[in-house]
Amino acid sequence: VSSLTESAAWRALAAHRASAGGLALNELFARDSRRVQRMTLEAGALFLDYSRHLVSDETLALLRALIAQQQLGAWRERLFSGERINTSEDRAVLHTALRDRSGNALLLDGIDVMPDIRATLYKMRSFSEAVRNGSLRGATGQALRDIVCIGIGGSDLGPRLVCEALTKLPQSGPRVHFASNLDRLDLAATLAKLRANETLFIVSSKSFSTEETLANAGAARTWLVDALGPEAVTKHMVAVTAHPEAAQALGIADKYCFRFWDWVGGRFSLWSAVGLPIALAHGRDAFEALLDGGYEMDRHFQTAPWESNMPVIMAALGIWYRNFWTIPSLAVVPYAHALAALPAYLQQLDMESNGKSVDRDGRAVDYATAPLVWGGAATVVQHSFFQWLHQGTDIAAIDLIAAAGSQRELLAHFLAQGEGLMRGKAHAGALRDTASQTPERGELLGALRSFPGNRPSSSIVLNQLDARSLGALIALYEHKVFVQGIVWNINSFDQWGVELGKTLAGEWRTALAAPPADSDPPLLRRLR
Ligand code: F6P
Repeated sequence: VSSLTESAAWRALAAHRASAGGLALNELFARDSRRVQRMTLEAGALFLDYSRHLVSDETLALLRALIAQQQLGAWRERLFSGERINTSEDRAVLHTALRDRSGNALLLDGIDVMPDIRATLYKMRSFSEAVRNGSLRGATGQALRDIVCIGIGGSDLGPRLVCEALTKLPQSGPRVHFASNLDRLDLAATLAKLRANETLFIVSSKSFSTEETLANAGAARTWLVDALGPEAVTKHMVAVTAHPEAAQALGIADKYCFRFWDWVGGRFSLWSAVGLPIALAHGRDAFEALLDGGYEMDRHFQTAPWESNMPVIMAALGIWYRNFWTIPSLAVVPYAHALAALPAYLQQLDMESNGKSVDRDGRAVDYATAPLVWGGAATVVQHSFFQWLHQGTDIAAIDLIAAAGSQRELLAHFLAQGEGLMRGKAHAGALRDTASQTPERGELLGALRSFPGNRPSSSIVLNQLDARSLGALIALYEHKVFVQGIVWNINSFDQWGVELGKTLAGEWRTALAAPPADSDPPLLRRLR
């Protein structure tokens, strides 16, 4: 038994869950006419309504006590001050420094990291402006109209999300495309539409050793050389990496290498030069507004009391469901087509960070950690998995997300779903709807058309779908994941679980290339 599950705060929550039984949302609302006023909150560019959660004031107080017991305040200080809290990799976790707009120094091993950050930001600004205004051109003198971003995981999902989210039609900057899959079709399908002399590749890889990225970068290089000759590489390929020497070995020019540092975790790297595609596609001001939004959320997280601290509240609710209701998943449903990539982004952020079953000291945990994060853009998904959300036998926690001022029809669905999931529809009401039917058929339809309700959701509203709000939203989830990692006593900043598959793939690649043998397993034989 871990010290966490034995702790006073944990046991108090378990006892509360047992005594409160199934809290009923309709009753909580009926008992307290001010619930919705009390359980809404603004932080920077974001608004959160968390009234539709299976919590009373007592539940929230007990969750805050758990968070305090796990010493969140001290850990938060360690995070922002650059302590090496990623102990298994002996690294600081300083992505917040990338969006620190305070002008203060930040010392890591006695050296201020801020001048290097500012220098890279400056380099990003001038590079993106030069490409956008056509003063920086390709090998044949043509403007660079298409940007192909090659990278995977944290070197892909963040810029992809933000570039898509900010897309306005008609487009002002160059077109941005993303290729990440090892499957050659991903890159080939993009290149088939492009002209080499107007194309710029950005190869993003912290390690510059990731199989997928190196394979795609190699294919991109061959495509360029075939069309324009070997000299073109220095004018058409850019690298973003913590290992510029590896990028230069591929022929990428030193001045086209953008650095970031080992204290920026891959899934938190969007704020670094990994965000270059954002500056290229939407302008440097958009990238800086993203940083401003993130910084605003950092300040909120650092200064707001726990009871009005948005990341802390969201983390607390997640812990309540995951550990005390055994709800296995979190569905993320943006009511904006431009945010369709958000669930995939949050999958890496949450599941790669907290998908752990060993604590910071190497002991197996006896409590649940990260939820399964899934979702998709509404209203499309209302016609796929919403049936399950409303009437399935499992319950998911749900984050519904919308931007103020969006298309009215979309907002109507956003409001309706949160309400419907909570209220449900009792059997009696469903029977009334079927009054014109025969009694037996009415009874059947009444049963089928009743909804259990009591399904919890958060409603998150962005001021508008702009870079600043998006920065705040992403930082909100980063801090939520951080708080949960602290409560669960796990290192949220390593990812050893992705290594095994990589190693085994190397062995299977050799086996696939070897001559067939009688001892080959049937699956291998079938695949050849
Ligand atoms: O999936 C594992 C991982 O290491 C992620 O954490 C990371 O974002 C991704 O691979 C890409 O790594 P790199 O930026 O080094 O190519």
